[in-house]
Amino acid sequence: MSIPEPPGVERILFTGEEIRRRIAEVGAEISRHYRDKDLKLVAVLKGSVYFLTELTRAIEIPVKIDFLAISSFASQRSSPGVVRIAKDLDEPIEGEDVLLVEDIVDTGLTATYLLRTLAGRGPNSLAVCTLLDRTSRRLVDVPVRFRCFEIPDRFVVGYGLDYRQLYRNLPYIAVMKPGALSTQSGAPRNLPRSSE
Ligand code: IMP
Ligand code: MG
Repeated sequence: MSIPEPPGVERILFTGEEIRRRIAEVGAEISRHYRDKDLKLVAVLKGSVYFLTELTRAIEIPVKIDFLAISSFASQRSSPGVVRIAKDLDEPIEGEDVLLVEDIVDTGLTATYLLRTLAGRGPNSLAVCTLLDRTSRRLVDVPVRFRCFEIPDRFVVGYGLDYRQLYRNLPYIAVMKPGALSTQSGAPRNLPRSSE
């Protein structure tokens, strides 16, 4: 039995099956790349959690995990992309091979901030792995080493991604209907353009 699509959903972009198949490929790639290394996956709460659990199951080498959470002030026009760490990692990363696991890299501001912060802690290596990549909206260059899917300039939900904290548990990734996205303050930064 499948969950009925919520009314705000326009169409499914990637099914659960497609997502799992792609994550298996990326997991294999990561296993090859980090063979004989001290790999730690650092996931950004909350959106990356669904991706992280599937990804770790697809990685065949020993791996540690840790989490951090950020508060974003990015929807405020006065301070675009300003984030701060709301929950830090539990353990140091010095000397470890760290892979930052993101749900989506959009403007790239969040990942850039996190990479800068983590780089200051002396990891042996530092790279980015993201489920979704929306390069069309990039404001700063981010070295994305592993990515599952490139997506169009539309707001998406599901598989960990939320709209106002909802829809994370959808077992697929879906495009939201533009009409379902509020234009009031607090609206997502990447509202679809009016031409869409
Ligand atoms: P960036 O700093 O612009 O790269 O934004 C990254 C963060 O914005 C992500 O980690 C998400 O939390 C959020 N975000 C960006 N695009 C979407 C989307 O289409 N759906 C849900 N969240 C998004
Ligand atoms: Mg995120």
